Amino acid sequence: MEEGTSNFSSLVKKRIVVREFRQPRTGKFDLDIKEIASNGVRIPTAGFSRGIEILTILNPDNINKIAAIANEEKYRAKGLDPWVSWAEGIIIILVNKGAYEERYGMEDKESSLNIDNWHMPYWYIDAGAALMNILLGAEDKGLGSGFLGGHNIDLVNLRSEFKIPREIEVLGLVPIGVRKDTNKKKTSEKKKLIYAEIYGK
Ligand SMILES: Cc1cc2nc3c(=O)[nH]c(=O)nc-3n(C[C@H](O)[C@H](O)[C@H](O)COP(=O)(O)O)c2cc1C
Repeated sequence: MEEGTSNFSSLVKKRIVVREFRQPRTGKFDLDIKEIASNGVRIPTAGFSRGIEILTILNPDNINKIAAIANEEKYRAKGLDPWVSWAEGIIIILVNKGAYEERYGMEDKESSLNIDNWHMPYWYIDAGAALMNILLGAEDKGLGSGFLGGHNIDLVNLRSEFKIPREIEVLGLVPIGVRKDTNKKKTSEKKKLIYAEIYGK
């Protein structure tokens, strides 16, 4: 831990999206990945709907299936090293909108009925919270992680291979593994994103 920095701050600063792993799966990190997954759903959810679900993949054959579904061959054809296929494990983040519909259909939530009119779909907000818990959880275990959005995956194949029901949306995949390049640092922030007191200032 950096001196004078909390563990949380140090994790946040160190974490980076990783797209290369050092070695093929060793199987040594299964318990870590299971813990990362269980912390992934330890998040606040709108109305305590608990509609964010996780599918954990540790079986090497299934990891290879996902690498194919994520078009790793194309990625490797560009001269890049294996990424998804060398993951120690993959966490798939799933969004169950039905859980929000059910929860907000309950008596105590009558005032907020019709969740489709919400100013923001909270199920995606909650999915982002799960993603962040997972990425930081991997960093906390000394592992590297990345994110492959659903837009980059053959979702039809993924659904049929892993029996993901139609009504459950796939946010994307988090491959977790041993980082190849441990020196790579985050791009330093140049864009102004934080304002004080007045927007833009
Ligand atoms: C919602 C979302 C979708 C992303 N989709 C992909 C993706 O499909 N493939 C990919 O290689 N990186 C993806 N990324 C990673 C970003 O392209 C980028 O690497 C990341 O913002 C850099 O973060 P870092 O500064 O923490 O390393 C995604 C990130 C987010 C948050």
